[in-house]
Amino acid sequence: MPQSEITTLEQFIVDQQALHVNADGSLSRIFRAIELAAKIVNRDVRKAGLIDILGEDGSINPHGEDQQKLDVIANNVFISALSRTKEVSMIISEENEGVVYVEGCENEKYIVAIDPLDGSSNIDVNVSIGSIFSIYQRSNPENNPSIDDCLQNGDRQVAAGYVFYGSSTMLVYTTGQGVNGFTLDDALQEFCLSHPQIKTPSEGGIFSVNEGNYQDFPTGIQAYIDYCKDPDKPTKRPYKARYIGSMIADFHRNLLKGGIFMYPSTNKSPNGKLRLMYECNPMAFIAEQAGGLASTGSMRVMELDPTELHQRCPLYIGSKNMVQKAVDMLHQYESVLVNR
Ligand code: AHG
Ligand code: MN
Ligand code: MN
Repeated sequence: MPQSEITTLEQFIVDQQALHVNADGSLSRIFRAIELAAKIVNRDVRKAGLIDILGEDGSINPHGEDQQKLDVIANNVFISALSRTKEVSMIISEENEGVVYVEGCENEKYIVAIDPLDGSSNIDVNVSIGSIFSIYQRSNPENNPSIDDCLQNGDRQVAAGYVFYGSSTMLVYTTGQGVNGFTLDDALQEFCLSHPQIKTPSEGGIFSVNEGNYQDFPTGIQAYIDYCKDPDKPTKRPYKARYIGSMIADFHRNLLKGGIFMYPSTNKSPNGKLRLMYECNPMAFIAEQAGGLASTGSMRVMELDPTELHQRCPLYIGSKNMVQKAVDMLHQYESVLVNR
């Protein structure tokens, strides 16, 4: 694109704010903080092999998972950038057991949920990773901030997005007015609008799932995976199997090319693995805004009322027709079992 036509994220945010008469700039300040945190984490990720920030931190997160050094670094970077805005009263993070209350900001109306580093197991092997964010307004700003304020369903998100540290670094987000993607220009250190108004194809040709767990998936999902692999010319099957193991990377590819990402329930984990508030809901908001779907298998992800901060849910997300088909097959086989 001609240099004179570059729109930076900064400019885009200012333009968007100007469109909303009642906007007081609070959300813009939160976005700027996320942008800064993204640049700092990007800088660290890009030189991770050169300085001593690869490998395990020696600590364990609230889910019993080993924290990587970069998990801890990214968490601190996002929390301190968000805290400094003085607009956020509470932060929910994958890496913190309880709500992080921001000192001196008890009366502020925003809550931000973050997965500071998604795809931690890929850090050490130089495979794409990401950061996810989801922004809410408090439901009871007149009361003291509390966990009850945080437990809102995804339909109440004000904005959501992700930063993707891939072959280039991108920031993709929505405020409910479509999805826009920005690519970081390394020399300028600015995110520049590169993917305006992203729409995902309603039919795709990629399925992404950890097939190692196949034996443990619901019968209907096993049948759907078999269907994806069955040759059929009119529907362009078999679909391509692609699974990176970083949801952001798998989701982003499928968003642009068309596909489905699944993290089903298993016998061992009836609610799947992914966390509702900072993994499933933000991606669901983006998927729907891009014309796709996001389901738990029994309902829209964003209608699920959370009862816990780190609640998990099964996830079927991506191209509309593919998600619909997977969910239909899931139900079809469930009813066969029930009627047996
Ligand atoms: P995180 O690194 O934030 O814990 O998330 C990892 C998630 C997600 O990114 C990915 O899709 C999934 O875990 C991979 O899980 P499996 O290794 O079980 O397939
Ligand atoms: Mn994650
Ligand atoms: Mn993570």
